[in-house]
Amino acid sequence: MASYLQIADDEKGHDLDLFCVPRHYESDLDKVIIPHGLIMDRTERLARDIIQDMGGHHIVALCVLKGGYKFFADLLDYIKVLNHNSDKSVPLTVDFIRVKSYCNDKSTNSVRVIGGDELSNLAGKDIVETGRTMQTLLSRLSECNPKMVKVVSLLVKRTPRSSGYRPDYIGFEVPDAFLVGYALDYNEYFRDLSHICILNDQAKEKYKV
Ligand code: IMP
Ligand code: MG
Repeated sequence: MASYLQIADDEKGHDLDLFCVPRHYESDLDKVIIPHGLIMDRTERLARDIIQDMGGHHIVALCVLKGGYKFFADLLDYIKVLNHNSDKSVPLTVDFIRVKSYCNDKSTNSVRVIGGDELSNLAGKDIVETGRTMQTLLSRLSECNPKMVKVVSLLVKRTPRSSGYRPDYIGFEVPDAFLVGYALDYNEYFRDLSHICILNDQAKEKYKV
């Protein structure tokens, strides 16, 4: 079973005043739940675990856009550093796929997959809530008969809506709240926020479509 850093349900988070948050979002957020530095530290360790497990296999790293782009880029940067500085190194190519299923803070019933023309054996993902998006994507990937598929997700939500699906590598397990920042969005807003934060109810109304 993948190990992860658990953020407890009663986690109070950190006051926004303690960190730098864009002015245009200050009134939309309650607390910083995962500061950017902690995301980076955990991602560095995931990179090490992945390289250790992959042996010398060639990795096609598949980024699940848009929410996964920050995590993907940072994870690959750490993998590159390991490749530069250790005896063992892993050849890496990249590909990108776009998946869309959310409107406001709710899953819609359709999961749209756009792009991605190569087989993949490593998919980098922002967050798994019910697991439906990832399961849809995995069944699409299996049509390409990849040798191996490993899923790395920065976040997994503890929610009764979960299908039971668990990624191979997990950064953090988080409470059942709507999170934004570090490329996670609410109707396309908040991707330009470095920390992972809880959105307040006012903001859910303000940015509703
Ligand atoms: P699932 O299919 O229910 O696992 O949902 C996964 C997708 O829903 C993610 O890739 C996100 O796009 C979106 N999502 C789920 N929870 C959140 C959240 O808390 N913040 C932002 N996006 C979320
Ligand atoms: Mg989204």
